[in-house]
Amino acid sequence: MSDDLLRQIKLQGAVPAHVAVIMDGNGRWAQRRNLPRTAGHQAGMASVRRLVESCLEAGVTTVTVFAFSQENWQRPPEEIDALMALLQEYVSTQSAELTEQGVRVRMLGDLTPLSPPARQAVEFVERATAGGTKLALNICISYGSRAEITRAARRLAEDVAAGRITSDEVTEQAIADRLYTAPWGDPDLLIRTSGEFRISNFLLWQLAYAELYVTPTLWPDFGRREFFEAVLDYQRRDRRFGRVTTA
Ligand code: FPP
Repeated sequence: MSDDLLRQIKLQGAVPAHVAVIMDGNGRWAQRRNLPRTAGHQAGMASVRRLVESCLEAGVTTVTVFAFSQENWQRPPEEIDALMALLQEYVSTQSAELTEQGVRVRMLGDLTPLSPPARQAVEFVERATAGGTKLALNICISYGSRAEITRAARRLAEDVAAGRITSDEVTEQAIADRLYTAPWGDPDLLIRTSGEFRISNFLLWQLAYAELYVTPTLWPDFGRREFFEAVLDYQRRDRRFGRVTTA
């Protein structure tokens, strides 16, 4: 059945080059099964693996996922530890496969609060997959979009103060160039699972013209079929970027 959806995607043509995902609902998935929240995150990690495979199949070239927000540092220490352990588990179990698949992994966010082993895992996977050219997988960790924009503004202020650029050169492009996502451009499609209609401080600048797709499916239940449905929905949209159409 999901092979049918993939065939339809290929027939439609234009696939979103860059997909962003807010992977929400791990906690609720676990709660419904009387499991600890961490079991939901574990199941969510398997969904990330399926997402990568589905992106490769569909021909998506960049996928940016929200794995841990700056606000998530306020969760109970046991849950933070479990999420950091999962990050390390993901790296140790997936690096070889990701490299083989041609996936290049980058971790975006303020990585300074991460424990030394978690930072080592980040450095390891980024180095191991550096040659990947088929799919860029950006994992946002300790990420907040307002903090990212503030960091870009601070860098611009420093550049102006040091005389490297003039205030006239503070353009939209100059800001975009100083965001974590600079090498990949803006997402075409944002998927949010678990039914919440919120952006939650994720890629606020970059999502300006993204198509939004919200599904009630909880992240651990989001698989190949659900991803292809989202892509097909995107392909039916009429993207105008604020312009009028002539049709
Ligand atoms: C939101 O669900 C999800 C998170 C805060 C963590 C996302 C993490 C993963 C998918 C696994 C790790 C992934 C990698 C790549 C290492 P929630 O806990 O807010 O769910 P709830 O809203 O139902 O409580």
